Amino acid sequence: MEPPPPLRQAFRAQFGEEATAWAFAPGRVNLIGEHTDYTGGLVLPTTVSRGIDVLIRLRPDRMCAAHALDLGAAAVHAIDRRPADDAPLWQQYVFGVTFELQQAGLLTTGGQLLMRGNLPRGAGLSSSAALCVGVALAWQQALRFEMTGEAMARLCQRVEQVHAGVACGIMDQMAVRLGQRGHALFLDCHMLTRQHLPLDWHAAALLILDTKVARTLAGSAYNDRRATCEAALARLQQAGWPLESLRTLVPRDLPRLATALPPHMLRRVRHIVTENARVRQAVDALRTGEYQQLGQAMLASHDSLRDDFEVSCPELDHLVDTAQRTPGVFGARMTGAGFGGCALALVHPGALQAAAEHLAHQFEARFGASPGLLPLTANRAAAAESL
Ligand code: GLA
Repeated sequence: MEPPPPLRQAFRAQFGEEATAWAFAPGRVNLIGEHTDYTGGLVLPTTVSRGIDVLIRLRPDRMCAAHALDLGAAAVHAIDRRPADDAPLWQQYVFGVTFELQQAGLLTTGGQLLMRGNLPRGAGLSSSAALCVGVALAWQQALRFEMTGEAMARLCQRVEQVHAGVACGIMDQMAVRLGQRGHALFLDCHMLTRQHLPLDWHAAALLILDTKVARTLAGSAYNDRRATCEAALARLQQAGWPLESLRTLVPRDLPRLATALPPHMLRRVRHIVTENARVRQAVDALRTGEYQQLGQAMLASHDSLRDDFEVSCPELDHLVDTAQRTPGVFGARMTGAGFGGCALALVHPGALQAAAEHLAHQFEARFGASPGLLPLTANRAAAAESL
């Protein structure tokens, strides 16, 4: 794999020299296991075919010059300084990753970077994790430092938390960095143990439906959900429950939890507990190729996210309701943090086009705007190469 030639030309036009290394990081979509990562739970994401390309060339000083082609924006920042609090978000990511790598003692010199992506931004497909991982991989390829995929995912998670202010879990960065072509990633977010499970794209395709609803409240509501889960854990621990994380709870604990937690905390915890169980069901279904069963688990996940975790919205509910009644669709759910963003449908490949048209048509009739459609019949893995 190599960067598309126009990208190398763009680099030359911007910096007057050739790029010496290239990296690609894909977006991710989560099949199931939503809002479980920051409670040490189970998730099952896969990468998508779109992502972000990053080209790099080292420079002799300690400055980082970055050019974001899609935004038509450029900036220069010292590698030894954290990005300013009021810098645009894309700079928080690019200079945040650069600063964290420098702090870790891995950057010995500056560089020029050019990036271009084709992921819808802020749609729940982890465009920010892809940007961070893409930049980190480009630096790694140019400087040849040792860093495991897990360590890189953690560094990129820290950038999201510290520089962008979202108390996110580890799912996105692990999926983007370690996800494999033709596979979903079954990840235990407590132990960080993982298995790559084959996806049979001939038996089931994915259809990503972007509501284009801006997730303006996403940051604060997301942090609020996480805080509630942490408060619930602390409460249970104080009451003598021997728990290391909410992950330890299983569905048969639910009746006892009902007396230990106030109603709104109980609903949030019930989502976590039942969602972890659904991930296990989904993994079994994937292993045996029972896509109908995987679809059922996805539908149940959506119900739980809508009613217990309360992170859905009317547009997402509409897409999932319609999908449920569309021929050839195995199941559907909201995916990512929620409050807008994307829904995901698991569809028989032969029915993909008709299902996409039907869903788009129904959505338009209801909301007067068309959803973004992203059919997925293959995915890509992160990659890096010297040029
Ligand atoms: C966002 C976060 C992830 C995860 C999902 C919800 O994508 O970055 O860590 O919590 O939301 O499952």
